[in-house]
Amino acid sequence: MERMSDGSSFFVTTPIFYVNDVPHIGHAYTEVAADVLARWHRQRGDDTWFLTGTDEHGQKILRTATANGVTPQEWADKLVEEAWKPLLETIDLSNDDFIRTTEKRHEENVQKFLQHLYDTGYIYTGEYEGFYCVGCEEYKQPGDLLDGEGDYAGQKVCAIHSKPVELLHEKNYFFKMSAFAEQLLALYEERPDFVQPESARNEVMSFVRSGLDDLSISRSSFDWGVKVPWDESHVVYVWFDALLNYVTAVGYGQDDAEFERRWPATHLVGKDILRFHAVIWPAMLMAAGLQVPHRVFGHGWLLVGGEKMSKSKLTGIAPTQITDTFGSDAFRYYFLRAIHFGQDGSFSWEDLHARYTSELANGFGNLASRVIAMVNRYCDGVIPAAGDMTDADAAIRAIERTATATASIAIDRLAIHEAIGTVWELVDALNGYITEQEPWALAKDPEKRERLETVLNTAVRGLGTLAVLLSPVLTKATATLWTALGGDGAVQDVRIDQAWEWTGSGTVTPLEALFPRIETSAE
Ligand code: ME8
Ligand code: MG
Repeated sequence: MERMSDGSSFFVTTPIFYVNDVPHIGHAYTEVAADVLARWHRQRGDDTWFLTGTDEHGQKILRTATANGVTPQEWADKLVEEAWKPLLETIDLSNDDFIRTTEKRHEENVQKFLQHLYDTGYIYTGEYEGFYCVGCEEYKQPGDLLDGEGDYAGQKVCAIHSKPVELLHEKNYFFKMSAFAEQLLALYEERPDFVQPESARNEVMSFVRSGLDDLSISRSSFDWGVKVPWDESHVVYVWFDALLNYVTAVGYGQDDAEFERRWPATHLVGKDILRFHAVIWPAMLMAAGLQVPHRVFGHGWLLVGGEKMSKSKLTGIAPTQITDTFGSDAFRYYFLRAIHFGQDGSFSWEDLHARYTSELANGFGNLASRVIAMVNRYCDGVIPAAGDMTDADAAIRAIERTATATASIAIDRLAIHEAIGTVWELVDALNGYITEQEPWALAKDPEKRERLETVLNTAVRGLGTLAVLLSPVLTKATATLWTALGGDGAVQDVRIDQAWEWTGSGTVTPLEALFPRIETSAE
C-alpha cells in the first residue's frame, strides 16, 4: 500500500458552489470530507492545501439576481458574506483559501488559459442546437432527459433538477474536446485510481467510449461572465470558467513556484458533476499541456425521502439546523461515519440522534469522563505510572498501534468512513477494558494499588491516542479532551502517524461531558 511520506504535497478541493442559494447539508458534506482529509494530511506533516469557494457567473446566478431586483455581483457578494463564508465557521473548516470566480486573480488567468488554447488551435467557431438545463448549466443529451410530470407534463425535464430544459441555438466558440477521447481512455486505463470509486470510473469510461462531442465554451445571449479575450461579445461558458478555479487559486498564470508546489489536486465532488471533473477538466488540462488532477472522487448523494436533497426541490436542510442542537463535531462525525464515502446515504434525524447518543455521548464521551474522573478520585489527578503489563493491557496497546497505522492507510484510499470505523474499535476496546478491569473494585483493595495504576495509565494513554486520531473529525471535543489530559500544546500539532506513542504523564483536570445528552424533542 502506497503511504505518502513525510512532507509530500497534498492539495484537496471541493466544488465551488453556486451562489444562487444558501448552503444545505449536501454542500457541507463535501466540505467536511475535504476538511478531514486536509487536517489528517497536515497532521502527518504533508505540505497541505485545502481550497474551497464559490461559482458566481452564468445564467443561473444572473436569473436569480434579476428575480431579486439586484445585479449579479450584488447578489453574489451578499450570498458569499451572509451564507457561504459563515458556513466555514458553522462546520469548523480549516480551508487555506476561498476563491470566488469574480475575483481578478481568477478572471485574468481564465483569459490567459483560453487565449493559450485559442492560439494553439484548440478553439474554433461553430454552431450548436440542443436542450440546456440552467440548473446544471449544461447541454443535455436526449438520453439524459425525462418526461415531465404535473406542471411540466408534456415537456422534457432534467433528470437531476426535474425542471424543463430549454431549446437553445447558438453560434459559439467550441473547444476540440473530441480530440482527447483516446488520451482520456488511456488515462483511465493506466491510472485506475484516477476516477474513484470504481462505479464512477465505469460510468465515466463508458461515457467516453460512446464518443465525445466538442464543447461549446462561450455564450453571447447574456454578459454575466468572463469576457472571451479576442471577442468581447462573448462570455466564457460558466463551467469552463469554474473548473479553472482549481489552478487559478494556486498560481496558474501568475506564480509558477506556487503552482508547481500545489498542483495536481485531489478533487472531491458529488457524482452529479463527475463528468465535468473526470472528462472535460482533464481534456482542458491536456490541451493546455498541464498535468491532469491527481484523482477525482465522486461521492454519493444525501437523500431525503429517497431523492437527492436539494434546494430546488425544497428538501434542503441548513447545516445550522443540525449544528445548533448537536454541534459541529457531531455534524462532521455523523456524515462521515454513517455514510460509506462514495455511496448514497439517507439522512434522518432519528439516525443522527441515535448515533449521537450511542457513539458520541455513551461511547466516546462517557469513556473520557469516567477515566479522568477515576484519575482524579483515586490518584488526586496525577496520571499514575504503569507497572507490569498483563495481556489485557498489551492488547490495548496493540489496538492503538494498529488503529494509528490502519486509519492512515484508509485515509490514503479516501475511505474516510473506514478510517473512523478503525479508530472506533479503540473506543469500544477501551470501554470493554474498563468494564473487565473494574478499576473501582481495584481501588478498594490497597494490595491492588499497582494494578489500579497500570489500568488507569493504560486507559489514559488510550484516551490520548483517541484524542489525536479523532482530532481531524471531532475538532472541538478532542481539543477539550487533550487539555484535560494535560497534553502539550494543541492536539492538532501532534503527529497523527505517531498517535499511539503518546505517554500520559503529569496531571489531568476535570472534564465536562464532551457530548451532553440531547432530548429527542430537538428533532
Ligand atoms: O455544481 N448530496 O455547484 P452546486 C451530496 N458550481 N452532495 C451534494 C448534494 C447532495 N444532496 N447536493 C449538493 C455546482 N451537493 C458547480 C460546481 S466546480 C468547478 C463547480 C454537493 O452548488 C456536491 O459536492 O450545485 C455537489 O457536487 C455540489 O454540492 C454541487 O454544488
Ligand atoms: Mg447543483
